[in-house]
Amino acid sequence: MDDTVAVSLTVNGTAVRHRIEPRQSLVDFLRYELELTGSHVGCEHGVCGACSVRVDGAVVRGCLMLAVQCDGSRVETIEGVAASDEARDLQQAFAIENALQCGFCTPGMLLTALDLLARRLDPSPEEIRGALSGNYCRCTGYHAIVAAVRRTAKARGRA
Ligand code: FES
Ligand code: FES
Repeated sequence: MDDTVAVSLTVNGTAVRHRIEPRQSLVDFLRYELELTGSHVGCEHGVCGACSVRVDGAVVRGCLMLAVQCDGSRVETIEGVAASDEARDLQQAFAIENALQCGFCTPGMLLTALDLLARRLDPSPEEIRGALSGNYCRCTGYHAIVAAVRRTAKARGRA
């Protein structure tokens, strides 16, 4: 018996129609059905933030949403965001500040930091740490990530 359901959504600007199992998470759908592997899977419990993606403009945990919940929605992954150049300056700041090592957390960090930068022109280090507190990094100790976000905010302020 076919227990899949049809979903229609937009992913990184492209219309997608798929039949999926109702229990499939959004991040698994993106990774396994669409081969968009930039969104990572760490805890699968909504804790680490590695699976962060945007749904209708809001950053969400891809492991906590079912793909069927995104029927009719606009989903953006790090692949789409990077291709749009929206994150170019932030990515460069990450490189300059050595804000990534293994890179596992980086897509989620970038999406969360972009969300903060869209809301706050000049976030303080404390605000940045607060905004990124739901994104875990095993490698960097966070100082460099905060510095990269600060660098980007300052540069955007001069633009
Ligand atoms: S894998 Fe989704 S929050 Fe960790
Ligand atoms: S750079 Fe390795 S987890 Fe953050």
